[in-house]
Amino acid sequence: MCGIVGYVGPRQAAPIIMDGLRRLEYRGYDSSGIALLNGHGLDVRKAAGKLSVLADELEGTDTSGTIGIGHTRWATHGAPTTPNAHPHVDQSGRIALIHNGIVENATAIRKALIARGHEFTSETDTEVLAHLVGELYEGNLEEAVAAALRDVEGAYGIAVICAEEPDTLVAARNGSPIILGVGEDEWFIASDPSAILEHTRSVVYLDNGEMAVLNRDGYRVRTLSKRHIDKPVNQIEWDLATIERGGFEHFMLKEIFEQPESVENTMRGHLLEETGDVRVYGLKLSDEQARRINRIIITACGTSWHSALIGKYMIEELARIPTEVEYASEFRYRNPIVTEGTLVIAISQSGETADTLAALHEAKSRGARTIGLVNVVGSTISREVDGGLYLRCGPEIGVASTKAFTSQVAALALVTLRFARLGPMTAAEGRRYIDALSKLPAQIREILDRSAEVEVLAERFADATNALYLGRGVNFPVALEGALKLKEISYVHAEGYPAAEMKHGPIALIDENMPVIVVAPRDAVHGKIVSNIQEVRARGGKVIAIVNQGDDEIARLAEATFIVPETLDLLTPILTIIPLQLFSYYVALRRGCNVDQPRNLAKSVTVE
Ligand code: F6R
Repeated sequence: MCGIVGYVGPRQAAPIIMDGLRRLEYRGYDSSGIALLNGHGLDVRKAAGKLSVLADELEGTDTSGTIGIGHTRWATHGAPTTPNAHPHVDQSGRIALIHNGIVENATAIRKALIARGHEFTSETDTEVLAHLVGELYEGNLEEAVAAALRDVEGAYGIAVICAEEPDTLVAARNGSPIILGVGEDEWFIASDPSAILEHTRSVVYLDNGEMAVLNRDGYRVRTLSKRHIDKPVNQIEWDLATIERGGFEHFMLKEIFEQPESVENTMRGHLLEETGDVRVYGLKLSDEQARRINRIIITACGTSWHSALIGKYMIEELARIPTEVEYASEFRYRNPIVTEGTLVIAISQSGETADTLAALHEAKSRGARTIGLVNVVGSTISREVDGGLYLRCGPEIGVASTKAFTSQVAALALVTLRFARLGPMTAAEGRRYIDALSKLPAQIREILDRSAEVEVLAERFADATNALYLGRGVNFPVALEGALKLKEISYVHAEGYPAAEMKHGPIALIDENMPVIVVAPRDAVHGKIVSNIQEVRARGGKVIAIVNQGDDEIARLAEATFIVPETLDLLTPILTIIPLQLFSYYVALRRGCNVDQPRNLAKSVTVE
């Protein structure tokens, strides 16, 4: 979503803020802006379009000031125009505010402010908030912000400065992440640690309802009602290289190629080869508590929802615990049934997705035990679950999720084994899984070494306007994920289906212009999928099949095949998805799309 950066200290703020915004551009990139205090009042600059447009506007102009705030936007209220870009200023022009989130009662507040003589220049809820702070300002910015936020409903992460208090920056959080960076005599605000990692690794995570007041002597954290809070300072473990492209043309490609290591990191320390078991202390589930779990609900959005579907196949097959998968956005609004013994698993790369967080709150309010499979350390979901497992796949910057997906599936395999070994799975069977899991990183590497083959396939099919992805069993969610990847970054319409469903409707779409990508490793349903491929061929469809070595039957039927190494059936998604990720990447490149910043999308969706 939107990116927020703020700086207070002895250095010039503008270059630090612009660098921070560059690192956050993956979170939103339709407009941007910066506000600085330079001793002569407030200097606000904004521009529609990518951050480079703002950078060009600042070039060669006076951007002095040692305190400031900056924002990169993903539009919610109002089109991505310059007037709607943040920062927004209050009626008096003294106060500048940036905001991530949605003020739900903005219309009512706006009406009341208009009645009191306020005039607005944008369509945003953020400008309403800036005016409200301005109206309540009586010489104390901190108190004006606190008072305004007491009237606000909805989610926000904000940062505010005021021309009359040139040494103060106030930030606050409710729902949208805000961290405070602690440097040497300088302090930062950001919506994401990557914005400030270059300057400090020491961060304080604000919790909901908290405000941070930064000035040149230090910082304080308080609640809206003025209660002081002592917050721990945490250390970020990533280094700068993890958030840079490191020689790859795009973050997405870098992240696809990181998967041998990222999957290994997810599993590191958890596999017990001798006993065929796993050790996942983070789940905070004793054997006794785990045995009492009789139903599992997995909730997530997007790519994480696809990994959740794979989790269902794994858990039901191996642990024999009934498992449901719910879109987080549906779960929260449909009066879900949570009984004693229900475990709710929330899956989220960012740990900040508003819908998933709300579903988690819903589950907790109904008394469910919760665990999180989350990548970003210290994120909201990771701090609100009863237990969990960090994916440890490193920062994912590419907007289209890739390495998080394979790590989520690996993490779900660990959770599955934890339950399965307390239930029907023997030690010998457990050892078979542990052995197969430990081979996956090398097998992913084998696939990546043949990425050029996928590039050739992508060249052949890049002009298609539609694509169908088919898979069966545990590879049906892989078909969904492959289709999502293609849609997201190349804007080619693609659908994922369970292969046998095709004949119940989508088969009508098939003609000689329609590539049909079939995920068909040699598994328990292989024979069935061969029949489905024949049905496609009979209608002239062009099949690209993801198969195992020596699958002559499918090789004869398909227009093209890509071979993935063999593994246990339930683990195949970690391998079969890799060529599909590469395929969408190369198709997007070929079509001239902006792979890392696809249109209309943003990383980490922190609004409903
Ligand atoms: C797709 C993608 C999104 C996310 C979804 C959930 O490539 O990135 O579909 O998977 O927005 O995000 P997280 O996992 O951060 O909760």
